[in-house]
Amino acid sequence: MVGILSSLGRTMIAGFVLLIAIILLFGSVDLASTAWWSFVFRWLHVSVGVMWIGLLWYFNFVQIPSMPKIADELKPAISKVIAPEALFWFRYSALLTVLTGLIVSYLQGYAHDALLFKEGFTFENPYLAIGLGMWIAIIMAINVWFIIWPNQKKALGIIPIHVEDETEVKAIKANSAKIAMLTSRTNTLLSIPMLYLMVAQQNVGLG
Ligand code: HEM
Repeated sequence: MVGILSSLGRTMIAGFVLLIAIILLFGSVDLASTAWWSFVFRWLHVSVGVMWIGLLWYFNFVQIPSMPKIADELKPAISKVIAPEALFWFRYSALLTVLTGLIVSYLQGYAHDALLFKEGFTFENPYLAIGLGMWIAIIMAINVWFIIWPNQKKALGIIPIHVEDETEVKAIKANSAKIAMLTSRTNTLLSIPMLYLMVAQQNVGLG
């Protein structure tokens, strides 16, 4: 057991083996059914979504508030090692959440209606909750890829800044870090209604 748990790869494989055992014992698989595929993509969607929003909340609840408490000589452990690694999983889980979410909406048969609010902004629209939720989450993913990540690359020194003056380089990095932080905060704010709307669709909806 220690042999499995001391490796992340083996731990993940063990998790999938356990899942397959549970499915074989109690579940049913119907490769020909759209409803079954919708269920599988919903599971994948929630899994990658948890990783994305989990990392977003880690940045906001743990990493950002802890940085001022860390001695300057120790800060590179975060900025050079932990943050770049976390940002890798963060941006790709965001991308996979969008893709799997759009696939679920397609398999559910309402992608077009929900995204275009075809049935209007009224309580009678059965796809209002998921339409709003998807758009909020799409804006959040755009923030990740086109604002947070490009600014973090500058702030963390992942890409070079072609300016001679060292003070100016520091100012550019500080400004990029600030933009990334405020956008990350915006996504934290948006994550509250977004998650409510995701879950509302299968439950009470908005009407
Ligand atoms: C652009 C991004 C996203 C899209 C397009 C999307 C799309 C969807 C769709 C179509 C559903 C199925 C709704 C239904 O008919 O019940 C759903 C459910 C759900 N989504 Fe998302 N979603 C996105 C982002 C997220 C994120 C970031 C999370 C965070 C964890 C998330 C968590 C969930 C949850 C928990 C459900 C409910 C599953 C259930 O009730 O079975 N989604 N999403």
